[in-house]
Amino acid sequence: MTPAASNATKTPIVHGVDLCRTFEVGDTRVHALDHVDISMDSADFVAVMGPSGSGKSTLMNILGCLDRPNSGSYQLLSHQVANLDDASLSAIRNQHLGFVFQSFHLLPRLTALDNVLLPLRFAKGDVTDALEHALDLLARLGMSDRIDHRPNQLSGGQRQRVAIARALMVKPTLLLADEPTGNLDSKTASEILELMLTFNREGQTILLVTHESSIAALAHRIIHMRDGRIEGEEINA
Ligand SMILES: Nc1ncnc2c1ncn2[C@@H]1O[C@H](COP(=O)(O)OP(=O)(O)O)[C@@H](O)[C@H]1O
Ligand SMILES: [Mg+2]
Repeated sequence: MTPAASNATKTPIVHGVDLCRTFEVGDTRVHALDHVDISMDSADFVAVMGPSGSGKSTLMNILGCLDRPNSGSYQLLSHQVANLDDASLSAIRNQHLGFVFQSFHLLPRLTALDNVLLPLRFAKGDVTDALEHALDLLARLGMSDRIDHRPNQLSGGQRQRVAIARALMVKPTLLLADEPTGNLDSKTASEILELMLTFNREGQTILLVTHESSIAALAHRIIHMRDGRIEGEEINA
């Protein structure tokens, strides 16, 4: 697989400065994020890599507006999000962000198509357009003949394809993927990564969290985390 290709015109998407997130567990305090700076531009494909417990998911949750830092500032496009209330945070999340998780997070009772249509329950717009967009995404992900299947009738790779279609449904400014191939065999994992690369080449901005260097190697930029800190960054030309 060749690395992601970067785009010529760049818009700042993510700008996090001095982000800290601590968790109190009993009488210990865990510094899950310890003064982290991170910036991303449009069409970037950034991998966050590090061992288990290094703060990758915490960073993704903050950039994905699922959590807030204890201190530091985070700007997503023109929005200062670190201090927003829950309602504003979820509005920004629904409008700008798509998520893909290791364990797919599909709703078991819904068909593939209905899972993909789900994010639009918050959005305005034409239902016919939405249906067309969902069918188009499922087709591009090779799932046209499975749209009426429920998650338990699909393989892991097929479930992740549905999850990617769902994440892309809102045309997210930023796609966040936390160990998206962690539950897949290596052949299926490469297929999923190849699909993500294809969307990136068309301009989709992606942040991918992984603990595997072979997966991180596909990104433009690899951010290495350890103990809540960024210990280094590599550019993948
Ligand atoms: N909700 C939480 N409550 C307490 N500790 C947490 C919580 N979330 C994460 N942590 C701790 O913060 C650190 C970073 O976790 P995490 O971001 O999940 O790491 P990674 O995704 O790299 O495995 C770990 O020490 C973890 O135990
Ligand atoms: Mg994690």
